[in-house]
Amino acid sequence: MCGIVGYIGAGNPSSKPEEVVLEGLARLEYRGYDSAGVAVLAMAGLAVAKKAGRLENLREELEEHPLPHSFAAIGHTRWATHGGPSDVNAHPHVSADGRVALVHNGIIENYQKLADELSAAGITPISQTDTEIVAHHLSLLLAAGLSLLEAMCQLARRLEGSFTLVALDRESPEEIVAARRNSPLVVGLGEGENFLGSDVAAFVGYTKRALELGQDRIVRLSPTKVEVVDFFGTPDSGREFDVDWDINAAVKGGYATFMDKEIHESPTAVAETLRGRTTLDGHLMLDDMRIREDVLRSVDKIIVVACGTAAYAGHVAKYAIEHWCRIPVEVELAHEFRYRDPVVNEKTLVVAISQSGETMDTLMAIRHAREQGSRVLAIVNTHGSTIARESDAVLYTHAGPEVAVASTKAFIAQITACYILGLYLAELRGNKFVDEVATYLDELTKMPGRIEEVLEAEEEVRALAQSMADATSVLFLGRHVGFPVALEGALKLKELAYIHAEGFAAGELKHGPIALVEENLPVFVIVPTPRRPLLHSKVVSNLQEVRARGARTIAIAEEGDEEAAKFADTVIWVPRTTPTLMMPLVTVVPLQIFASELARVKGYDVDKPRNLAKSVTVE
Ligand code: F6R
Repeated sequence: MCGIVGYIGAGNPSSKPEEVVLEGLARLEYRGYDSAGVAVLAMAGLAVAKKAGRLENLREELEEHPLPHSFAAIGHTRWATHGGPSDVNAHPHVSADGRVALVHNGIIENYQKLADELSAAGITPISQTDTEIVAHHLSLLLAAGLSLLEAMCQLARRLEGSFTLVALDRESPEEIVAARRNSPLVVGLGEGENFLGSDVAAFVGYTKRALELGQDRIVRLSPTKVEVVDFFGTPDSGREFDVDWDINAAVKGGYATFMDKEIHESPTAVAETLRGRTTLDGHLMLDDMRIREDVLRSVDKIIVVACGTAAYAGHVAKYAIEHWCRIPVEVELAHEFRYRDPVVNEKTLVVAISQSGETMDTLMAIRHAREQGSRVLAIVNTHGSTIARESDAVLYTHAGPEVAVASTKAFIAQITACYILGLYLAELRGNKFVDEVATYLDELTKMPGRIEEVLEAEEEVRALAQSMADATSVLFLGRHVGFPVALEGALKLKELAYIHAEGFAAGELKHGPIALVEENLPVFVIVPTPRRPLLHSKVVSNLQEVRARGARTIAIAEEGDEEAAKFADTVIWVPRTTPTLMMPLVTVVPLQIFASELARVKGYDVDKPRNLAKSVTVE
């Protein structure tokens, strides 16, 4: 769970390598932010600065002790795994002979064996990290006469676990060499300069041309050349692609927090995810479809695997896909799926949902599914990510980079993508005619405007959150597609405002949770449209039940729903939405705003909640 940046340029040494790397680290800080460091390769050799804490601490250190102008630089923003967050454990790590500087994302599982070998060679590590062990081994191979590329190949073959490694060699200022296995790394292709990043946000301000690296690959960068090989040195090409993220997408754009900015980007995220999905004759398209149509027609079960917020998007997918396609859909947390011997075969379609495309639990689940013969379709936001690469088909959510740790616009884009998938399958399998699908798509294209309407009432939701600054517990209730929205509302509040929050299926209330209700307990109720009278009346009864027990009730209800308003202390109105299945796209937005505001009022860091990182790349 770390961010990595690398840069190499042509010409005389300059301050640019350090600048590029620091800027890239700022963009990748969401990947981890307990320490940061940079190494530059200058005329006089390697120079390193690293500090525990936020990137700001590193910047202060660099102001006090500037690094020399350089040819190349590597940088790292860390989320500790081996060894706690401290200056000495921060990356880059330098080999005992001072020849190699190395940054690493991942975990080296055979680290102890490698450490024992070093101790036999008389080398004592100064940090508690697995990375330092690798740096020493790399320098021993260089000392034995191998080139940096050869040394990296040889070492990578010995390493077990997941890693992205990026190294500088003091004796070789014209190159950076990096290796990847089960951990992200993308190359940015410039003119007379080249870049490396854990994702494209690291270098998108400099180049929009990028190169995706396959599994178990090593890349050697000079200012003018990019050479890719496998761990045995056999040449490979990688896959070039153009980055469609704008540089402005990665900065706050006038909002107080990335989370606020990203909530406001939800309408665009929906519109972009929908853009260009239909062929001239009106058929739906996914982005990267490598599963044959006859295989998709023969699918008899879908299992959605994901974690956290992405899993709640999966719950919405279940309601939509089962209703439109009449295929049974299960939704499972990826880490539970992986280790319970699930019944999957070649007739099962596994749908993996992930914003980052790097969540290790989800990655392990899809690998397991593929080993059992299932096809995997990924709904992913990050191009070039491992889950996208390792799936049989990809449907990208074009939400742009999501920097705040708490997922907002990506969740909304994931739900949109799930609807697209449901409609695609419904048409392909003959459950819906093209014109029926077109009607649903038409409704979907109205959703950005409806979300805008919800955002217009933002200040009322913020005022509500301010009035609840002292709440210690909040409940969320929903039925049907309102249930995953309730779960998501509770998750957002837990992770941002650090208060007890729980989401329930409203029908479950009477089976236990109602005992929690006491005087003034805030209870959010996600009310379905009155145009579904059976569902609506049940939820309104639940609203009455909690109100009768003294709860402070907040209804998220469709405009004009007088029945819900009767039993609510506060109503947050959302626009009329058809079909009901699409209501989560509007009902979740006030809950995201509420959580963000409550965290702000309580003085917490909205974008970087404690104990959490944006991308969870360990199991
Ligand atoms: C919560 C949140 C997490 C992620 C989860 C999966 O706001 O963001 O629960 O949804 O860690 O991450 P991705 O989607 O990157 O696989």
